[in-house]
Amino acid sequence: MTKTILKALAGEVQDVPPIWMMRQAGRYLPEYRATRAQAGDFLSLCYNPELAAEVTLQPIRRYGFDAAILFADILLLPQALGADLWFVTGEGPRLSTITSEDELAQLKPVDEIDETLSPIYETVRILSRELPSETTLIGFAGAPWTVATYMIAGKGTKDQGPAHALKDGNRAVFEGILDRLTEGTIHYLSKQIEAGAEVVKIFDSWAGSLKGEDFRKYAVEPCRRITAAIKERHPGIPVIGFPREAGEGYVGFHAATGVDCVALDNSVSAEWAAKEVQKDGCVQGNLASTHMVTGGQALVDETRAIVKAFSGGPHIFNLGHGITPDADPDNVTRMIEAVRGG
Ligand code: CP3
Repeated sequence: MTKTILKALAGEVQDVPPIWMMRQAGRYLPEYRATRAQAGDFLSLCYNPELAAEVTLQPIRRYGFDAAILFADILLLPQALGADLWFVTGEGPRLSTITSEDELAQLKPVDEIDETLSPIYETVRILSRELPSETTLIGFAGAPWTVATYMIAGKGTKDQGPAHALKDGNRAVFEGILDRLTEGTIHYLSKQIEAGAEVVKIFDSWAGSLKGEDFRKYAVEPCRRITAAIKERHPGIPVIGFPREAGEGYVGFHAATGVDCVALDNSVSAEWAAKEVQKDGCVQGNLASTHMVTGGQALVDETRAIVKAFSGGPHIFNLGHGITPDADPDNVTRMIEAVRGG
C-alpha cells in the first residue's frame, strides 16, 4: 500500500489529505524539552543520532502524523563547510561571517562535509528502521539563498540586509557562496536519500525578500538545479519546495523548478492558491501557526476551510510556518481531528 504522503506527491487527490507539521518535534512538547535537556544544547541534540531519532519519533507516537521530518537544522551545512556555529538562548543562531574572496576560499570542499554530517545520516538510518510502515520520512536542507543570509550576516536578520548588500556590492563573492551551497545541498540531500529519506524538502524561508530577476536567479534557479540533480541521481524521490512569502512567485514555481510540491505560507489565501498554484501540482499548507496557540472554534473552522479549498487537487495539510514554543499540544490534536474527522 502506498503511503498517503507519497500518493499526494504523485498527484493523487485523496478524500482526507495527509498531514504533518513543520517543527513538529519542538519545544511545545514536554517530551522534546526533556530529551533536549538530556542532550545538553540544541546542536548536541542534532548530532546525537539516538536522541535526534527519539525526538523525531515523539510527535509520531503522540499524534500519528503521516510524515516524520528528520530532526536537524538548515545551518548544519554551513557548519560542515567550515563556519563556526552556535546558538544563543532566547536569540537564535550565530555564525562566523563570510563576506570576502578570502573567506570564500577558506570554505571546505563539498567532499569533506560528511566528516561533520555523518551523524545526521545515522539518524536517518535509525528512523527508516523505526518509523511505522505508513509514515513517510522527509529529509531536508535550507535553500542556498536562505542559508547564505545567515552566513553573510552571522545571524538571523529581519530584512536580510547584509546578504542584499553583498549581492549588490560584490556579486562574485555572493554567487560563489550560493554555488558552494548549491553543490553542498545536492550532496547532503543525496546522502540523506541514500540513508533512507523518501522525500526531501528545500526550505527557502527568506525567498520573499528577493524580487523580480533576483527571485528568478537566486530562489528559482538554485532550487531548479538541486531538484534536477536529485531527480537524476535518485529517480522517483519527490521534492517539496518552500519559497516562503514568495507571493506571486508561487505562480509557476512547480514548472520553473521541477519540484513535485510547493509549500505555502500564510500570506496567501487557500482559495487563491488552489486556483493559481495547485493547478500545476501538489501543494502543502497552510494553516497559520498562531491557531496552535489560540485554538477554539476558529482553529476548527479555518482547518476545515483550508481542507475544502484544496479538496479538488493533491494536497498535504500543514501549517504555513513552524509551530511555536508557546503552542498548546491539545490544539494539535484538535487540528488533526478537524482534518481527519471532517
Ligand atoms: O521541522 C522540524 O521539526 C525539523 C527540524 C527543523 C529545525 N529547524 C529544528 C529546530 C527544521 C526543518 C528547521 C529549519 C530551519 N532552521 C529554518 C527554516 C524554516 C524556518 O523556520 O523558517 C531556519 C531559518 C532555521 C534556523 C534556525 N534554527 C533558527 C533561526 C533557530 C532559532 C529560532 C528558534 O526557534 O529558537 C533554530 C533553532 C531550531 N531549529 C529549533 C528547532 C527545534 C529550536 C531549538 C531549541 O530546541 O532551542
